[in-house]
Amino acid sequence: MRLSVIGIGYLGLTHAVCMADLGHDVLALDVDEDKLGLAAKGEAPFFEPGLAPLLRKNLDDGRLRFTSSYEEAARFAQVHFLCVGTPQSPDGRADLTQVYGAAAALAPLLREACLVVGKSTVPPGTARQVMSRLRAAAPAGDDVGVAWSPEFLREGSAVQDTLEPGRLVFGVTSQSDVMTLREVYRQLLEAGTPWLAMGLETAELVKVSANAFLATKISFINEMAEVCEAVGADVVALSRALSHDDRIGGRSLSPGAGFGGGCLPKDVRAFRATGRQLGLDSLDRFLAEVEAINLGRRARLAALAQEMLGGALPGKRVAVLGVAFKPNSDDVRDSPGLDVCQRLAQAGAVVCVHDPAAMPNAARLCPELHYRSSVRAAAEAADLVLHVTEWPEYRALDPSALAAVVARPNLIDARCVLDAELWRAAGWSVRVLGQC
Ligand code: UDX
Repeated sequence: MRLSVIGIGYLGLTHAVCMADLGHDVLALDVDEDKLGLAAKGEAPFFEPGLAPLLRKNLDDGRLRFTSSYEEAARFAQVHFLCVGTPQSPDGRADLTQVYGAAAALAPLLREACLVVGKSTVPPGTARQVMSRLRAAAPAGDDVGVAWSPEFLREGSAVQDTLEPGRLVFGVTSQSDVMTLREVYRQLLEAGTPWLAMGLETAELVKVSANAFLATKISFINEMAEVCEAVGADVVALSRALSHDDRIGGRSLSPGAGFGGGCLPKDVRAFRATGRQLGLDSLDRFLAEVEAINLGRRARLAALAQEMLGGALPGKRVAVLGVAFKPNSDDVRDSPGLDVCQRLAQAGAVVCVHDPAAMPNAARLCPELHYRSSVRAAAEAADLVLHVTEWPEYRALDPSALAAVVARPNLIDARCVLDAELWRAAGWSVRVLGQC
């Protein structure tokens, strides 16, 4: 099929590349010429394992092209995917300017029947608004269909999540739109991917409630980490034991510095705003607690660092391992690691950061921190090493070698994944969040 993908941010570029890889002819559109230029050369403007080679393969095979012209996209595609950003407004609500802006740009150019499929994360009611705006302004009028098919991809595994999704959700208003979506995703459906058709509002809600649930799960285990510290228990063992209950499951149950990134924190705040708008105070209150527990982890980590350093931070050197919001990503949006770095630096500590991928992005946001190209260099003369993002290479560190370069062998493992006994045996004082 001929598809257009509007917006080539994280979601859009990954979607465009994967749709091309499934055999569709894809025209991807963005208004940012820099992003278009990079993508057209086969370079992903962000770090995502496996994306760049797949981008180049589909460019070479001629199935994927880029444009800044809505006219060209409107003429080309039978199905248009809306993948623009929904950033946070100052009051927490999702800012829908890009969604409505893309619809307004596309609408007057839609002269023939087509389907516009929203993939951006939006509050319930948005898809119906998009539909009425498109139909009012499009020459094709009611022949323009609108569906909403939320995307559940995670950074770091975006390609796999798109090509092997756990489920496909189709928010639709007609059976013929279901048939069109089934044709788009035919290959995945034949491979057995479960799909669910439902109304537009329900589909919009699936995404925001899924993210709210994942955030709740993470905050729950982090609250249990506090309980564990208070009663002398071990949150890692607790989490493992809970995970064996199928009803609970082990995913999104890792304790640590809490959730960050471009999605969970923003989506929780946007859902709170939806609750307030709908007069559902309990939703707002419930998610306010989830958010407060999450932010509390960062404060707790900074306080623990201060405690390990004997109370005073000015002049103390802290090495921070990992500032990406999660491993396998260069994304530092709402990063717990970067937040803790800022707290420590503001209190007078000299903070030396190492991260395998996120340092350029971190340096743009926080130029006051010091950035080092190796763990060893970051740890040199450090009074404390703080492990915040669980990159695989940090698990393979040699604690004895590192003990030789620090000023004082103090370690905080904020993600509860390092082998604490190994580090202790090498002479380190180790504190693990959620363990005594
Ligand atoms: C999330 C959702 O998982 C995805 O479905 C949605 O489409 C976008 O938002 P992502 O932000 O890429 O994806 O990352 P995810 O793996 O969910 O992690 C989010 C944050 O939670 C990270 O900061 C991570 O470190 C943290 N986390 C995750 C935990 O602290 N504990 C966990 O058990 C899991």
